[in-house]
Amino acid sequence: MLRTNILLLIIVLVSFLSCTVRAKVSYDGRSFIINGQRKILISGSIHYPRSTPEMWPDLIQKAKDGGLDVIQTYVFWNVHEPSPGKYNFEGRGDIVRFLKLVKAAGLYAHLRIGPYICAEWNFGGFPVWLKYVPGMEFRTDNGPFKAAMQGFVTKIVNLMKSENLFEPQGGPIIMSQIENEYGPVEWEIGAPGKAYTKWAAQMAVAQNTGVPWVMCMQDDDAPDPVIDACNGFYCEGFVPNKPYKPKMFTEIWTGWYTQYGGPNLHRPAEDLAYAVARFIQNNGSFFNYYMYHGGTNFGRTASGLFVATSYDYDAPIDEYGLLNEPKWGHLRDLHKAIKQCEPAMVSTYPTVIWLGKNQEAHVFKSRSGACAAFLSNYDPTYSVRVSFQNLPYDLPPWSVSILPDCKTVVYNTAKVNSPSSEPLMTPVGGKLSWQSYTDETPSADDSDVLVMNGLWEQLNVTRDSSDYLWYLTDVNIASNEGFLKSGQDPLFTVMSAGHALHVFINGQLSGTVYGSLDNPKLTYSSNVKLRAGVNKISLLSVAVGLANVGVHFETWNTGVLGPITLKGLNEGTRDLTKQRWTYKVGLKGEAQSLHTVTGSASVEWAEGSLLANKQPLTWYKTTFDAPPGNDPIALDMGSMGKGEVWVNGQSIGRHWPANIANGNCGGCNYAGTFSEKKCQMHCGKPSQRWYHVPRSWLQPSGNLLVVFEEWGGDSTWLYLVKRTR
Ligand SMILES: *[C@@H]1O[C@H](CO)[C@@H](O)[C@H](O)[C@H]1NC(C)=O
Ligand SMILES: *[C@@H]1O[C@H](CO)[C@@H](O)[C@H](O)[C@H]1NC(C)=O
Repeated sequence: MLRTNILLLIIVLVSFLSCTVRAKVSYDGRSFIINGQRKILISGSIHYPRSTPEMWPDLIQKAKDGGLDVIQTYVFWNVHEPSPGKYNFEGRGDIVRFLKLVKAAGLYAHLRIGPYICAEWNFGGFPVWLKYVPGMEFRTDNGPFKAAMQGFVTKIVNLMKSENLFEPQGGPIIMSQIENEYGPVEWEIGAPGKAYTKWAAQMAVAQNTGVPWVMCMQDDDAPDPVIDACNGFYCEGFVPNKPYKPKMFTEIWTGWYTQYGGPNLHRPAEDLAYAVARFIQNNGSFFNYYMYHGGTNFGRTASGLFVATSYDYDAPIDEYGLLNEPKWGHLRDLHKAIKQCEPAMVSTYPTVIWLGKNQEAHVFKSRSGACAAFLSNYDPTYSVRVSFQNLPYDLPPWSVSILPDCKTVVYNTAKVNSPSSEPLMTPVGGKLSWQSYTDETPSADDSDVLVMNGLWEQLNVTRDSSDYLWYLTDVNIASNEGFLKSGQDPLFTVMSAGHALHVFINGQLSGTVYGSLDNPKLTYSSNVKLRAGVNKISLLSVAVGLANVGVHFETWNTGVLGPITLKGLNEGTRDLTKQRWTYKVGLKGEAQSLHTVTGSASVEWAEGSLLANKQPLTWYKTTFDAPPGNDPIALDMGSMGKGEVWVNGQSIGRHWPANIANGNCGGCNYAGTFSEKKCQMHCGKPSQRWYHVPRSWLQPSGNLLVVFEEWGGDSTWLYLVKRTR
């Protein structure tokens, strides 16, 4: 009796154990294995803070309909821990809700915890306070950094565990990521970088999540069992650092991000499908579209330097949540073809057969008799007829044909069957009726300024509580200065580390300069009108996001660091760099919360004939009713300069339509190697003209729209549009 019971117990235990073993996510050189099943996994990035919770279910459903198995997202540290130990998981930061929606849709998740994420996100995802922890050095073998990183990773892993979100717990997360694109940094900094990589991998693995960890762009030394992975436009040639790791493509770039001053980029669907097909015919087992839905950098979340508010990325789902056709449909068809090949593919490695000078067949023949073939033509110019297993096949240039039974072509990457759908922006709701309020230029004698001699680094003073920092000083001009008589105005020169600068002399805007994508530094140099006596110099230094990438990007400076000189005085050149400077963080209107209903009611607004027009430092406000229907809504900011926009107190982002796209818009052929220099669009037009206003931020009527304009725009032409495709 006892013996039978023990036997039974053993049987129960063994079956339980084998169950949990099967439930674990594992891998080998061919593929990931989930619940005992080998998979070719198709994934797409959707970043939860780049859309609203109300948009999430639809985005995830569209990803599922597009044939995705996995949703990949970064975890955004500076969203979740805005000040040390104070956590936020609400609203667009509700990562648990996002992952539960992924699960509800029947999809898996790849959670890229980082916590360094790059992502064109402010400070690469790091909270600004992290920089000011004593002894801090980012992303190296540094005690304070490692302690903070481990703290945050543990916080996120524990949150996921407590919500049962890892796959062995029945959740959607089948893999996580530690660090991000660290290989190039390690290569530059050497030994401390190597030590840090080892530590990061060990720290991650010790979290015991029950799912594999990935390090992308960690080519040589991703420590076991962490999987190294490839990011790029193409990754077919990538080989994992160990033969028992699956070949992963963590970021296949579906397009590119927009920077203010840069063009919009388009990656043709044919080339994107071609890159995927080439990757999986060469042993690839997981690929992820970066981005599948790019979304919006709301508020001040866009990184330096000059990353635009739109993060559309030319992704298969556009910024507004609409299908970007034919890209979305062409990829859906590709995914169907891949899934038809999956049984043959996962059970074997391909045999490569030479078909011609630039043509190959990759054939997957399983022992059970399944057969799938990929026929490729790498030639960017010529169509080729090839013979495969005694049958003729025509291959367009730069294309791959997929034959799930080794006979029938179900898909060719260069043959697009989905109709295209150009976006339309149609004005809705008519002309808006505006009021204006002019912000103040502060002066060095104001009571609420910080007195700090010399020039100070901007972030150190603002801690990123605002984009804006005023540098204020007085310049005394003696009545016997020669220029007062000769009319030869002195030359005023200001050197700044970036990113934009407005120079006011005695309250009058005397000039604006800004850095460029390649060089955020700027120099203002102009002859200025000064009078005898005290002259008020007010420099408004403007940050456009903090750097998100580069070796020790935490040490990069922002703001006016000098020298500042005045040339052409009796004494020759006067150096103002070391004299008394005072500081004011932010604008008066920011302190008054003019973007909110209560704040905007606290000041007198001008209207009608008194409405400010094309004036710097001007706030505009109006109210509007939600346009009927469900089409996504945007603001046409084409007549404005630079600043920030809020709807019902929520920031829809920095606007900068006055920054015109510079580029080489010389047409776009899908064939041939793609890069971010190819297929540029919108040259000579604003880098970003339209700004997404999420529907869920609107009430039926009386929505408050507030615009802060630095340069001086014409609000008459600022109106609502709806987007359709
Ligand atoms: C695929 O992987 C196998 C086993 O590691 C290797 O022998 C083969 O060369 C790889 N094939 C391709 C096309 O990369
Ligand atoms: C930052 O501010 C602190 C004082 O708050 C000062 O001691 C330090 O020198 C400043 N650093 C820079 C780079 O300006």
